[in-house]
Amino acid sequence: MKPLLVAAIFFSAACARHDGNEAQHESLRKLGHDITKVVASAKNPDSVDDPTAFRYRVHQQVIPLRERLERIRQHTNTGVRTDGANDKDPTDKQMKDRDKVEAELNQMEEQLNQIDSPPAETPNAADRLAEDANRSSYWKRFGPYLAERQWGTVREDYSGDQNGWSYFPHAQAQSRAYRWGEDGLLGLADRQARLCFAPALWNGNDPCLKERLFGLTGPEGNHGEDVKELYYYLDATPTASYLKALYKYPHERFPYEKLLQEANDRKRDMRLPEYELIDTGCFERGYFDMLVQYAKADAEDILIRLSFTNR
Ligand SMILES: *[C@@H]1O[C@H](CO)[C@@H](O)[C@H](O)[C@H]1NC(C)=O
Repeated sequence: MKPLLVAAIFFSAACARHDGNEAQHESLRKLGHDITKVVASAKNPDSVDDPTAFRYRVHQQVIPLRERLERIRQHTNTGVRTDGANDKDPTDKQMKDRDKVEAELNQMEEQLNQIDSPPAETPNAADRLAEDANRSSYWKRFGPYLAERQWGTVREDYSGDQNGWSYFPHAQAQSRAYRWGEDGLLGLADRQARLCFAPALWNGNDPCLKERLFGLTGPEGNHGEDVKELYYYLDATPTASYLKALYKYPHERFPYEKLLQEANDRKRDMRLPEYELIDTGCFERGYFDMLVQYAKADAEDILIRLSFTNR
């Protein structure tokens, strides 16, 4: 094994010496390729539903490209080769090569400059966290603190026989007041839930508004408690300065009864899987996508956007 290992080291050293320029050109070529890709996507934001978030993402991609560009530039200017050896005085050809590389780098930089203006309100999470920590600005006062469901929780259990599930099922949530909290769909609240915001939906077919997540209580589910909804938390910053979530609401009557009934039927055999909302086929017959976005201009200046798409 030993002679082979030594040979390999010599071989790679020799390659590095001869391919210094090659390696440099290769990294230039790659950098150029990446820049072209990012520039192309930045110039084509038509399909993007959230331009601010999109620009922020492009900006994040530009930072490492800029760093690589700077490294290559340093590399050409100092005459340090990829193998780490210092060049002697550069020859005419080397000077020419450097001018060429420099021109290419300038061109790339110009391309980056065209798109690299960060969004006016670039979120600076670290500053906001520090301001919140030293209490100069309460960035965390409002956030996604509103519960998805408050029904069937031990906090609301006044049953007297510790039967919290049956004491407050989903069906009663529309007609009874909670004692210790609130709930809502993809909502926003201050940290003590004194001021809460959440959308309420109606598809024209349901017997009640869709104001909170539906689910089965422990005794109702064939494998215990289970929320039967489709919803996704898509994005969030540490201070909740930007939040994004998606809720899917069927056009047809929400299959409350079917979900309850089917779960009950499946209790006959513990090995049977759970029956989920998607299994009812309701989404194949059309649904609404509700995209909820929250953005803070200031700790207590909050913009809310609800976008609906008919699917
Ligand atoms: C609080 O933190 C922010 C961010 O680091 C800083 O700019 C500000 O001066 C601090 N304020 C106080 C009162 O310490």
